[in-house]
Amino acid sequence: MASSDFWPLCALLSLAVVQGKQYALPLPVPEIVRVYSDGNDIHDFGVWKMNVEWRDNFPVGNKPEPVTYDVEIFHTEQMRLVHKETIEDPMGTHRWSWTSPLPLQCTSHSVRLRTRHQSHTSEWTPLYTLKGKDIDDSSESNIYPQDYVARVGEGIVFCCILKKQSHAGFSPPPFTIQISNRTYITEPVRHDDVSSVSGFDILCDYTGATYFIGYAPDDQNLTCETRDLNSVECHWIPGKTGKSRMFNVQYKVNGRNCSVDRCVLDDSVDKGVMNWTLIAKNSLGEKMISDVADPKHRVRLKAPTITSAVLVHARNATLEWQWGEKSKLNSFPMICQVEVNGHTVQETFNGSGLKSLVLTDLQPFTGYSARVRCGSYEHFYKWGDWSTLNTFSTKEDIPEAVDMWMQILNGHTYVVWKSLTANQSHGIITGYELLLGSTTDEPKEHISKATNEHCHKVSAKRAEGDYFMFISAKNSAGISPPSKITIPNLQSDGGIIPDHISGLNDSFSISWDPSPNSSCGYVVDWFPTYSTEQCAVKWMKISSGVSNATIYSDFENGVKYTLSVYACTSGAPQLLQRREGYVKELAPVGKVQNLTAEQHGKDIKLSWKDMHEEEKKGFILGYNVYYKHSSEDQKYDILMASIRDPSVRTHTLSILRSGNYIFKVKAFTSAGEGPESDVYRYVDQQVYTMVSSILIVLGTLACIIAIIVLFCIKREWLQSKLYSDTPKPVFSGEWLTQDFHHCYVMDKILLSESEVLMVENPEPCLQVVPQVQKAQQEVDLKSKDPPWTRYYNDVCDPQTVSPLTIDLSYTEVSSPGIQNPTYNIPLSLPDDANLVLGYMPQIQNGDNQLQPCDVKFVQMDSAGYQPQSQGSSQTTEIPNETSLPLSTASVSSSEYLLHQCL
Ligand SMILES: *[C@@H]1O[C@H](CO)[C@@H](O)[C@H](O)[C@H]1NC(C)=O
Ligand SMILES: *[C@@H]1O[C@H](CO)[C@@H](O)[C@H](O)[C@H]1NC(C)=O
Ligand SMILES: *[C@@H]1O[C@H](CO)[C@@H](O)[C@H](O)[C@H]1NC(C)=O
Ligand SMILES: *[C@@H]1O[C@H](CO)[C@@H](O)[C@H](O)[C@H]1NC(C)=O
Ligand SMILES: *[C@@H]1O[C@H](CO)[C@@H](O)[C@H](O)[C@H]1NC(C)=O
Ligand SMILES: *[C@@H]1O[C@H](CO)[C@@H](O)[C@H](O)[C@H]1NC(C)=O
Ligand SMILES: *[C@@H]1O[C@H](CO)[C@@H](O)[C@H](O)[C@H]1NC(C)=O
Ligand SMILES: *[C@@H]1O[C@H](CO)[C@@H](O)[C@H](O)[C@H]1NC(C)=O
Repeated sequence: MASSDFWPLCALLSLAVVQGKQYALPLPVPEIVRVYSDGNDIHDFGVWKMNVEWRDNFPVGNKPEPVTYDVEIFHTEQMRLVHKETIEDPMGTHRWSWTSPLPLQCTSHSVRLRTRHQSHTSEWTPLYTLKGKDIDDSSESNIYPQDYVARVGEGIVFCCILKKQSHAGFSPPPFTIQISNRTYITEPVRHDDVSSVSGFDILCDYTGATYFIGYAPDDQNLTCETRDLNSVECHWIPGKTGKSRMFNVQYKVNGRNCSVDRCVLDDSVDKGVMNWTLIAKNSLGEKMISDVADPKHRVRLKAPTITSAVLVHARNATLEWQWGEKSKLNSFPMICQVEVNGHTVQETFNGSGLKSLVLTDLQPFTGYSARVRCGSYEHFYKWGDWSTLNTFSTKEDIPEAVDMWMQILNGHTYVVWKSLTANQSHGIITGYELLLGSTTDEPKEHISKATNEHCHKVSAKRAEGDYFMFISAKNSAGISPPSKITIPNLQSDGGIIPDHISGLNDSFSISWDPSPNSSCGYVVDWFPTYSTEQCAVKWMKISSGVSNATIYSDFENGVKYTLSVYACTSGAPQLLQRREGYVKELAPVGKVQNLTAEQHGKDIKLSWKDMHEEEKKGFILGYNVYYKHSSEDQKYDILMASIRDPSVRTHTLSILRSGNYIFKVKAFTSAGEGPESDVYRYVDQQVYTMVSSILIVLGTLACIIAIIVLFCIKREWLQSKLYSDTPKPVFSGEWLTQDFHHCYVMDKILLSESEVLMVENPEPCLQVVPQVQKAQQEVDLKSKDPPWTRYYNDVCDPQTVSPLTIDLSYTEVSSPGIQNPTYNIPLSLPDDANLVLGYMPQIQNGDNQLQPCDVKFVQMDSAGYQPQSQGSSQTTEIPNETSLPLSTASVSSSEYLLHQCL
């Protein structure tokens, strides 16, 4: 732009604007002296920094102010401008450096400069070229940079110099940008995380390079403390760097080398406030952090060394430790803390150079582990380190008082006591000492018992009067305070009849009326009622003011326990209450004993004995009586009676056809029936019925004669009586022509020839009351049937001969109407005759409500009958009738047959 044509004008302007400083234009062209890359790339791994040196060629003493330099850098081969900058050179060094985004080896770079003064510039210098490796004739391709170390997230540009120019348009990914005939570069390569130890690899044309990604040091929180008042220890939290060794950090605190996370400085702690500076350095950078403090306010004591000799007693122990012989800590005011069995003791201990402390409130004969830590008392900063754990065992102490009680079993008195628990025994129990005495002046008796003995039988003599017994447990430390019991007079216990008690959820709950005699609470004891084991009693002591207890123990189901409540008094314990019961009842496991069946006339009397107590497993509520006729195809036992009174152990049956029978009796508890006791019996009704027949024939003849006589004498009167509006009993014609010899019927409901209504298994029918009625009332029954009345019935079957009458009662029904077969077909009945019409089974509930019995149909044929449960699948076909209503209405609509069948 400098031209001679404009020179006069420029000179004028220059003179006008810049006064005093005159400079003759044009500006001189600078001269590039040297362009070179940083020389320390001895391995040719890549270099980025280009240095330029020049001269400005101003005449000496004639340099205008200010002067700047424009610089331009090109990729030589393509002459692409890659950098442009105006340099100020305030120091006049004529030196400038530029860092290239890619290694300078990748391609040749050309530099040119010009001088600038205000808007005036000089000519450009000629291009000065720094040669790249792509002009070398290499037989190998090359990648730059090699072994590069970069920060996470930094973009790295790689170049690949192909070995020859042959591959036109060749661009091996990721080398996609061509910058010279042989050189290709990548976009900046970035990584979000550190590389592995071996780094990342990048490949190009059978060659490659490795590079590493990591972080510069980023250490935090430098803290310097003193552990022993002789030195300062600094530590910090190291930051994340990288996995390869080139990321390793060198640490220095105040100029001294350190390990990777701590530094020990032999500084005196008496110099007041200190400034500690950590310099952390690695190949990617450097970090500097400081900590300023007075070391005396930074005392974090080292762990004390506990000496093995600890002074241990039964309930206290002294822990002792050391700080080192010449340690300044031996006079340092400190506060210490102790941890016992994992729990820090609240109380702290302080003193100058503290070296011991006493642990109190320890349990005798117990293992402990304890440790100690200390801190500065005056300027508490932090607790120091814990010492190692020291374990020790306290010494034995005398045992606690023994829990004792007594049991009266089979007329003997036993004193029993419990083992002391580990917490109570305070050592190893070596035995028990018993002392028996009386209020009189008799000599006292000493008895020693071994550790495993917990029972002592009091001699009969002792048990008679005001005797008492002391017991103490022994261990190596001595004997326990004595426990005392006054032995009650044997007679004082008798006479209480135990009430029943039932358990719930494996426990018994018992309550009692508070006793004014109780001075020291109550005792509840319990034992298996039928256990003959001595001292099987267990007990529980209950404080005054409480008058109930729920007892959990190893109660077994089906075992009877006796529970007693005593008032604890200054004298002998006073029995308040006794109960017996089961925590849970089971069905009996035993049979009733000695079941017998005896025939008395037509009656069979069953009787049996109670079962063994241990086999009951619950409170016996009663007995179920069954029978089975063995000669017939009878599949099921027939329940004849359910006796709900455990004290009734006989049952009379008035029935039966001749034949073999099995009678069975099962006791039951609330949990169910036990096993059966059975007895076989042949029932012979022949003899009885023959005698009966003769008597009946004679009676009948007498009646006929009497009727004839009456008929002749009082015909009209009789007519009015007999054929008035009194309803006539209806008889089946068949019945009248039957051979009645073997038939004995009280009453029946005739439904059809093959069906009869009978009563079976009427469990709720506890009391069977014979309903005795006069003849006239009987007849009325036909139309006025009480709804709860049921009838037995039977069929006179000529083939089977022996009809059945089921007797539901467990008490014998003594009625001349049954026993004495002297009645005629009831055309008339004597007024004084008691005819049993039927039974009126009724249950006597608490509210006196009468409940009807179950009624079942029985199909009768020559083979016998089968009970049928209502509506069950066992139902056999009932001929004729499809369904037989069971209601009372249908019963009363049936035909009654009122007769004595002979
Ligand atoms: C680069 O390639 C061009 C065209 O193929 C050629 O003219 C030039 O001489 C080459 N330059 C170098 C330095 O090889
Ligand atoms: C470092 O110190 C600062 C401030 O004292 C604290 O907030 C931070 O939690 C410390 N860092 C760690 C890792 O302890
Ligand atoms: C500190 O460490 C550096 C590098 O490991 C070592 O060259 C130097 O000698 C060390 N200085 C001291 C005082 O140990
Ligand atoms: C501690 O020293 C470092 C390095 O010498 C310095 O940068 C820092 O300001 C100093 N801190 C104080 C509180 O003196
Ligand atoms: C520790 O126990 C022993 C023995 O029981 C006793 O003599 C001593 O006084 C107790 N020491 C302390 C500090 O309680
Ligand atoms: C230090 O010990 C003294 C006496 O031994 C006591 O009175 C004081 O409470 C203790 N101080 C602390 C902080 O425990
Ligand atoms: C048992 O006794 C306590 C205290 O007298 C009373 O609060 C509680 O209700 C009693 N429990 C029963 C079931 O009686
Ligand atoms: C049962 O009979 C046997 C033998 O006849 C007899 O020894 C026993 O005492 C009887 N049992 C009872 C409970 O009567």
